[in-house]
Amino acid sequence: MRVMSVVGARPQFVKLAPIDRAFKEAGIDHSIVHTGQHYDPMLSDVFFSDLGISAPDHHLGVGSGTHGRQTGAMLAALDAVLENDRPDWVLVYGDTNSTLAAALAAVKMHIPVAHLEAGLRSFNRRMPEEINRVLTDHASDLLLAPTQVGMDHLAEEGLASRAVLVGDVMTDVLYQVRDEVATRPGCVVMDELGLAEGAFSVATIHRPDNTDDPAILNTVLDSLGAVDHPVVLLAHPRLVAKCEAAGIAIDRGSLRSHRPLAYPDLIASVMHARGVITDSGGLQKEAFLLRIPTTTVRPQTEWVETVELGWNVLVEPGPELVAAAQRRRPQDTDAAPYGDGHAAANVVQALEDCVTGI
Ligand code: UD1
Repeated sequence: MRVMSVVGARPQFVKLAPIDRAFKEAGIDHSIVHTGQHYDPMLSDVFFSDLGISAPDHHLGVGSGTHGRQTGAMLAALDAVLENDRPDWVLVYGDTNSTLAAALAAVKMHIPVAHLEAGLRSFNRRMPEEINRVLTDHASDLLLAPTQVGMDHLAEEGLASRAVLVGDVMTDVLYQVRDEVATRPGCVVMDELGLAEGAFSVATIHRPDNTDDPAILNTVLDSLGAVDHPVVLLAHPRLVAKCEAAGIAIDRGSLRSHRPLAYPDLIASVMHARGVITDSGGLQKEAFLLRIPTTTVRPQTEWVETVELGWNVLVEPGPELVAAAQRRRPQDTDAAPYGDGHAAANVVQALEDCVTGI
């Protein structure tokens, strides 16, 4: 069986790591296409080196742009790669513009498409990711859902016959990296900023709804600065670019900005933090798996289990954010809605079952 993975943005490299490893173990012929959506070494290359991912076989080098330009450039470049390689499956990941472009390019060429992380919904159509994931699910032949909630969404949209519950591959990679960094003393942000164990929060903000309007961006940063303990903002290039364009300084009050971290350093920093404040999807779940209380600066989440179990709170920027970031730890839970760390093996099985028609 020949599988082609198409990835392009930071969270997709994290998901690719356990898949690439499982494919190697199963002897599957796996090729990797990097669209080039993310190109800064700290958003791309470090994930391949730190997580032991095979180097991409093709790099499309599309870079940044408006949604139309970026997605269109990927579509145009993917045609030739797909035509040449004709894999048995194209595997697409998550909900970025790279995901949608690859699904659309492959399905138009009658190449079977499998969507990893299928069935997630925020029901917020202002989010580009919501459009990407709905369209990708409906274009795909095999829907690999991480959670039962995802399976339920797919069933409601008439897609149950194509859906398989495999668990979450981010749990696989997180548990592996957690065990690797557990023996290290401290972490990058404690060392570099002189912070004490469990005395700071780690923050990431990159969603257009939080970054693109300077007034909202300022309110978000003011709220982070008003928290009663140090907050380290791992500043995404989108946020940095928007701050520069609007002439806004990041640091204020408790808030200190820091460059984005490589994945093992991020996980280590979260493990040593008292809380996480974020609008990232993946980080909400990683923090939950590490049992670090999370404050999510969004009106909805796709990872509803983290909220239902009391470990994640959805807030608006302002006093709500500040209060939530200062709250006490919730009651412990041994719930495991994101699988047991063996989702990648289930993905291999699902693809093989589909090929043999079981
Ligand atoms: C993208 C995904 C989002 C994902 C996020 C993870 C889409 C629509 N969005 O958002 O789902 O959560 O990645 O980080 O696919 N930039 C750089 N260097 C880079 C990449 C981007 O400086 O390597 C800057 C550019 O100014 C660019 C901006 O960041 O215009 C936004 O990048 P883009 O890839 O369009 O979206 P993200 O916000 O990264």
